[in-house]
Amino acid sequence: MTTETQTASRRRASFHNLTVAEVRRLTDDAIEVTFGVPADLAGQYDYLPGQYVALRTTLPDEDGEPHEVRRSYSICAEPRSFEDGSSEIRVAIKKDLGGLFSTWANAELKAGDVLDVMSPQGAFISRHGKDGSPVQHNVMNSMNHPEELAGEPGNFVAIAAGSGITPVIAIARTLLAANPETTFDLVYANKAAMDVMFLEELADLKDKYPTRLALHHVLSREQRIAPLMTGRIDSEKLQALLSSAIHAEDVDEWFLCGPFELVQLCRDTLAARGVEPEHVRFELFTTGRPDRPEGNAGRPVVEDESQDTYKITFTLDGLTGDVASPTHARESILNAALRVRPDVPFACAGGVCGTCRAKLITGTVTMDENYALEQDELDKGYVLTCQSHPTSEEVTVDFDV
Ligand code: FES
Repeated sequence: MTTETQTASRRRASFHNLTVAEVRRLTDDAIEVTFGVPADLAGQYDYLPGQYVALRTTLPDEDGEPHEVRRSYSICAEPRSFEDGSSEIRVAIKKDLGGLFSTWANAELKAGDVLDVMSPQGAFISRHGKDGSPVQHNVMNSMNHPEELAGEPGNFVAIAAGSGITPVIAIARTLLAANPETTFDLVYANKAAMDVMFLEELADLKDKYPTRLALHHVLSREQRIAPLMTGRIDSEKLQALLSSAIHAEDVDEWFLCGPFELVQLCRDTLAARGVEPEHVRFELFTTGRPDRPEGNAGRPVVEDESQDTYKITFTLDGLTGDVASPTHARESILNAALRVRPDVPFACAGGVCGTCRAKLITGTVTMDENYALEQDELDKGYVLTCQSHPTSEEVTVDFDV
C-alpha cells in the first residue's frame, strides 16, 4: 500500500464548509448531492472509490431546540478533478423512515447551501491493485484518459441492497475502467423498480461494458420474469444465485453492502463455500438507532468527585488531555472524550464507519461492536472509541497514529 493511498484510506478526519453545487433527484425518496471542493481543499478530499463522507449540520429537534446531526453517506462517483485544481464530492441520500437528517435533506437541501463535510474515510475499497494495494483512479488522468488507469485484471462480484449501491457503483466504474479484461457481476436487491437508485447510470454502464458487466436486479415486491430475480434474498435464493446466475468461480474480490442481515447472510454463505475472508469487503448501513447518541454524544454524564472513575487520556492533533469517566456510567471512550474536546472525530457512533479509530497505548478496554477494523488493525492495538469501554483504571489512546 502506498503512503498516498494509506493517507486517503485512513486519513485523520476533519470538517470543512462545502457548498452544494447541485441536488439531483434519483427516486421519490433519494437525492444525489454534489459538493464543490475548492482547489485549496482538493488534497483533503481526494478519495478511493467506496469511501464515504460524514455530513454535519444543526437542525431543530422534536422540541424545536437546535441539535447537531451527523450522518455518513457513501460517495457515489469516481474521483475527478478539474483544470483549475478544484474537485467535487457526490453522495446519495436516501430518506430513512423517521430520519431527521435524510428527511430534511430530501425536502430542503438545495444548490448554494453550505454544510460541514468531513474529509473522506473508510476501508470499503478494492485491494486488487498490485501487491494487494487499492485500485484507484488517477484523479488527474481519469477524466480524459481512462485507459491510463492501471489495474490488475480481475473478476469481481458485488451484492448490494437499496442505497448500498452508492459505494458499489463508484467501485464498479473504477474497476471496469482499470483493466479491459476485468469482469463485474452486480446483484442489486430492491423492493420495487421505482426504488432502484442509479437505474440510468447502471444501464449506461452496461452499455459501455456489455460483455464485462452483468447486472442482476432482484425485486422483493415485484414479479420479474425469472423467479430467481423475484423475492427477498434469503439463504436459498443466495445459494441459487451463486450456483447459477452469477459467475461465482474465480472471484478475486467480493463487495457486500446493505443491511446487517443481508451482509451477514452473504458473509456466512461465502465462508461456507470456502471463500477466504480477505477476499470479502463489506460495509453495513449505519444503523441510526436512537439508542446510539450521535449529535449529542457525551453530554449526559455528569462527573461527581465522590464517584469511582476511569481516567481516560487521549492525544488528538498533538494535544494530550484527560477526562474522568464515572465507572457506573459505562461511557464509551468517544463519549467521555467528547465532553472535553468536541472535535474528536466520529460519524456513525455505531461501530460501522471507523472514523473514531484510535490506538490503545496503555490500559485495557472491551469493544461492543466492530464492523470497521480489520484483524491486522486489531493486532496493532487499534480500537473503535465509540464502542470501547475502559476495563482498567487508566486508559490512554492516541487518535493521531
Ligand atoms: S464513529 Fe463510526 S465506528 Fe465509531
